[in-house]
This record gives sequence, structure tokens and C-alpha cells, in this order.
Amino acid sequence: MENRLEQAYSAETFRRQGHELIDMLANYLAEASTDKESVKVTPWQHPDQQLAYWQEDFRKPLANPLDLFQDVMDKSIQVHRKRYVGHQTTPSLPVTILSSAMVATLNQGMGVYEMGMVGNTLEKVMTEFLAQKLGYSQEASGFVTSGGSLGNLTALLAARAASTNSWETGYEEGQKLAVLVSEEAHYCIDRAARIMGLGTTGIIKVPVNEKFQLRTDLLEQYYQQAISEGKQVISVIGCAGTTSTGSYDDLEAIAEFSERHNLWFHVDGAHGAPAAFSPKYKHLIKGMERADSVVVDYHKMMMTPSLSTALIFRRGSDAYKTFSQRAQYLWSEQETEDWYNGGKRSFECTKAMSVLHVYTIFRTYGEEVFQENIERVYGMGTAFAAMIKANPNFELAYEPQCNIVCFRHKAEGDQDKVNKEIRRLVLEEGRFYMVQTILNGQSYLHVSLMNPLTSEGELQELLLDIEEKAASLTHLLG
Ligand SMILES: Cc1ncc(COP(=O)(O)O)c(C=O)c1O
Repeated sequence: MENRLEQAYSAETFRRQGHELIDMLANYLAEASTDKESVKVTPWQHPDQQLAYWQEDFRKPLANPLDLFQDVMDKSIQVHRKRYVGHQTTPSLPVTILSSAMVATLNQGMGVYEMGMVGNTLEKVMTEFLAQKLGYSQEASGFVTSGGSLGNLTALLAARAASTNSWETGYEEGQKLAVLVSEEAHYCIDRAARIMGLGTTGIIKVPVNEKFQLRTDLLEQYYQQAISEGKQVISVIGCAGTTSTGSYDDLEAIAEFSERHNLWFHVDGAHGAPAAFSPKYKHLIKGMERADSVVVDYHKMMMTPSLSTALIFRRGSDAYKTFSQRAQYLWSEQETEDWYNGGKRSFECTKAMSVLHVYTIFRTYGEEVFQENIERVYGMGTAFAAMIKANPNFELAYEPQCNIVCFRHKAEGDQDKVNKEIRRLVLEEGRFYMVQTILNGQSYLHVSLMNPLTSEGELQELLLDIEEKAASLTHLLG
């Protein structure tokens, strides 16, 4: 091909393909909102089959990338479908499909102001707005990073910087740092602590109550035990919406405990902090305003594509202590707290201008859209729980606090086996997508109601579908 690069950069080809792509995506969205039975939520394929397909595809010439995109779509799980009730992935708002094209086109670097003038400024505006919603004072500030996992790691690094000098000196001989966290916390907290060299003994998992909330009555005992073992506790972490059950810890009690012992209080609000937008649900995050840091995934309950995560500090200046390193080619002075040079506070150097998604939603639909989304899907959680309780064939694992509901079919005999089998059949059939989890050592079905357009009709259908599948599994009973 002559002038391959000139052709690849052709604006006219882009214009033509771009129009075609928008039509294709609009058709997908239109179909998702009507939700034809004929289209599967997930076209499940075994990984080996999937690999064989793409290994063959990989060698084929491609005249039009639209053919590839259609193929990718047809073979992917479709999170905009009303029967998608699986993991906490949001059906991204259509306007963010447009902002995604902007982000990719502008391809801002973000690490320094010159490479992300608008993006760095929007991060300040949006995180300070969110901080206010969470109940913080004007002193709070934050930035956007790529995912809750990285956000939680960064917050724990800040916690460590607040009480040790290990960023400069490494750990002293015999120094044993530890964090206190609910046993139901997302695995990324455990992983972050291990990355920081705390090892398994540095992650102190506090048991939960029957609602899967951290037992704050045990905090003192676990803390004293750690001290007696020569550990230095650097942080207590509260969960505002656990991944498995959507449980909110008692943040006020954790705040009181942290303040009493002068410990860094971090909240993993990746899923549930946006309850702040709803007068009806904001009581769930009471006490969050006393946390030193909080993580909020815009890409979960605030309807943006992944990854886009706010990390907010109660005292904005704390964020600058995490990564105090020289990078002369990026900024001349390390000590100054220049909010506009993103790389000073973030683990990332180059990073997507993902803040544009939430900013666009906010400007287009107002903050009310976040309130409506929370109230719709959290309300659906309560309604679904009521349907489960009303059906004698099902058992509800706990009273849900948000849009995450765990339950199981009360099959006779080996319930674990039957429920795992039900979930496998549902996955392979592809009409619905739901997941499973382990609670108290037992297998449960798990749904996250992420799509505000899902209705009670689809949820009734899901229960019926599960009952039919359970009936077909009589060989596993007894
Ligand atoms: C409560 C909680 N924290 C952290 C994470 C990790 O966030 P991310 O997937 O954005 O890295 C998740 C992801 O599901 C989560 O549910």
C-alpha cells in the first residue's frame, strides 16, 4: 500500500467510518432499550473457542474496521441490556460514548499542565464538587485516577506517608506496618497492602456482622492485639458499599475509633459513595466527611465508561505527600503544591482525560441525573428483595442497602451445587447475566442492578427462569 500512513490519517475516511460507527452504536442502544428477547445479553463462548476464533481472524485482511467492530460487539457481553444484572459495570450513558471519542482524539497527556490544561482543571473542579457533596469542607481536594484499585493503593500510600518516613528510607529493621479492614473489603485493598510490603500479617481483617458490615465493636480488640504484636497500624479502612453485598460500614463509628487513635481513616466508596446525591440514601455515608481520604468510581454508579476514579483528600494538601520525587523534565519544583500538574499527586504519568465523561454528564443533565440513577437502582434493589422474600422457593441472604442483592434457590439437597449449576446454565444460555458469590462459606446468586431501565418485569422473569432451571436439575437434588 502506497502512502499507508497518509491513508491511515485520512480525515475523510475517518468521517465516513465515524458516521457508520455512530449508526451502528445507535442501533445497539435502540435495540438494548427495547430489549428484544432474540438478542442475548452474553454470547458465552468457552475461552479456547474464543481464542481459536480470534487467532484465525487476526490473519485476515480487513477492508473496513466497521466489520471488525460489529464482530467484536456480537461476541461481547452487552452491559446496556435490561437483563444484564451482573457485575457493577454501568451501562455507560450515550453522551459519554461521544466524550470517549473526544478523549481519544485529543489524547492529552495529563501528567503536566501543558499536556492537559483543560483536563487537569476539570479534575480540580469535579473532585472539589464531589468533595462538597460528600460533606467535606473547602479544604478538601482530589484528582482523577484510573480505577478504584489504583485509587485505594494511592490512598494507602498517603496513609503511610502521614505516619512513617518509609517512602525515603524504606522500612526500618523490625518495622511492621498494618491496616485494619473489613473481611468483606474488595481484594484490591489486600493487594495494595501487599504491594506496600505489609505481607499477610499486615492486613488485619476484622469480621463482619449479619449484614456484612465491619464489626466496629471489635476494632479496639483487633487494634490492641496488633499493638501487642509490635505492629504499627497506619490506617483503618471503611467500605461504603462492599462488592459482594453492597453493605455500608458504620463510618461514624470507624471515624470515632480512628480519631481516638490518630489513625488515617480511608473509605473505599468506589461503589456506594454517590449515595451522597440522594437525600433518600445519603444517610448511608454518614461519617464519610470525617475520612482522611475516599475513593469514588465514576465508572460505577455515575455512569461513565471505565476507568475513571476520584480520589479525594479531606485536607487537599495531603495528596502531595504521597509521591515526593524529582522529575525535573516535568516540573521544576517538587515542593510546590501545584494542583495543575497532575503527575505530582497521581501514580500515573500519562493518563486518559477521563474526567471529561463525568463533566459532560454533569453539564448536560445536571447533578439530578446522579440522584435519579441512585434512587432508581437502589429502589430496584429493595423491590427485588421483596420479590425474593415473597417467593417460598428463594432465600434472601440479607436485607440489601443498595442495588446489590444476594439470594439463592432453596433447592432440596445440595443447595450449593444446585445454585452454582443454575448460574452456569444462565451464563451459557445468555438471556440474563448474573454472577455468584460466597457468603459465610455458601454459594449465593448475586445481582448488581446497574441499569436504571431494567424493570420489575425482567426481574420477575429472572426468578422464573431460575425456578425452571432448578426444576431441570433434579438429578442434583437429594
Ligand atoms: C468496593 C470496590 N472497591 C474497589 C474496586 C476496584 O475498583 P476498580 O475495578 O475500578 O479498580 C471495586 C470493583 O469492583 C469495588 O467494588
